[in-house]
Amino acid sequence: MPVVSATDENVARAAEILRTGGIVAFPTETVYGLGADALSPAACARVFAAKRRPEFDPLIVHVEGMDALDGLVLRLDDRIRRVAAAFWPGPLTLVLPKTPRVPDLVTAGRPTVAVRVPAHPVARALLAALGRPIAAPSANPFGYLSPTTAEHVALQLGDAVEWILDGGPSSLGLESTIVDLSGDRPVLLRPGAVEVERLEPILGALDAPATHDPARAPGLSESHYAPHARLRLLDGPATSDRVPSRVGLLAFRRPERAVSDAFATTEALAPSGDVVEAAANLFACLHRLDRANLDAIWVEPVPLHGLGVAIADRLRRAAARR
Ligand code: TXA
Ligand code: MG
Repeated sequence: MPVVSATDENVARAAEILRTGGIVAFPTETVYGLGADALSPAACARVFAAKRRPEFDPLIVHVEGMDALDGLVLRLDDRIRRVAAAFWPGPLTLVLPKTPRVPDLVTAGRPTVAVRVPAHPVARALLAALGRPIAAPSANPFGYLSPTTAEHVALQLGDAVEWILDGGPSSLGLESTIVDLSGDRPVLLRPGAVEVERLEPILGALDAPATHDPARAPGLSESHYAPHARLRLLDGPATSDRVPSRVGLLAFRRPERAVSDAFATTEALAPSGDVVEAAANLFACLHRLDRANLDAIWVEPVPLHGLGVAIADRLRRAAARR
């Protein structure tokens, strides 16, 4: 699984791999994706195999722009056009009624398809070179931390991937926000890199998923995005009191020396105190902590405004025992 820099030539070769039914990991502004030709069930099946997903979880279909949705979704009403105009290209995924052209494997048999127009120049170049939609989940083994660098993908998926296009660290570091627009009222399926506060002026109030139905968006299942070490969510800032050995700290800001000395290793999500910075660092910090051979990772609370809401969501799921 060569990691190659995302030069024009390598993007063209990656498109060729996709065109012939292969799978390629590529950068997006949120996290790295593991892509396949979205219209080829055989290619998409290889994505599920590489991720070792125990059950089929529907994939997000990435397209170059609104025009590329023709033939994939049943209708593009005003509401969809308005929200797409405001946030695409970008970290917003819309769940829309699908046409028969989208393979059932991609949507895990659902009548809807999740679509997104990524902003990352390498993702866009790959879509342009292929000229077809790319189905791509985050490029991590099922249930594990999302990758925000090519190295994360290489360490986690290894030989299961033919090519990894390296486009540097993902700038946002948090997955897209998923909104279901297939019904009358918009439903927030996953908080993510577009804050709800920015969506509601356009879409009106977002409903929470009707019941606790993991089948609606399996990425919403209680335990997800998990590192191997056990995560414990602290109620307040960490102190140096009674910290067992082999415990790491995921702090929000950089802690005082006495506190960091009490832990085997410490990572700070946002030295500046900014939640956007915290989002960009989240998965990289967790990956580093998870490689430090720890028994547990203690996690300070993050401020619950803006992207802090989505960060807290990921941390809570990562802490749920599998
Ligand atoms: O930022 C992102 O969204 C990244 C990048 C690569 O685009 N992708 C990503 O994909 O996070 P993944 O597969 O890790 O998460 C997609 C989530 C899953 O929880 C899946 O269940 C949900 O989207 N999903 C996909 N299609 C759906 C559908 N038709 N209805 C409801 N949920 C859907
Ligand atoms: Mg994922």
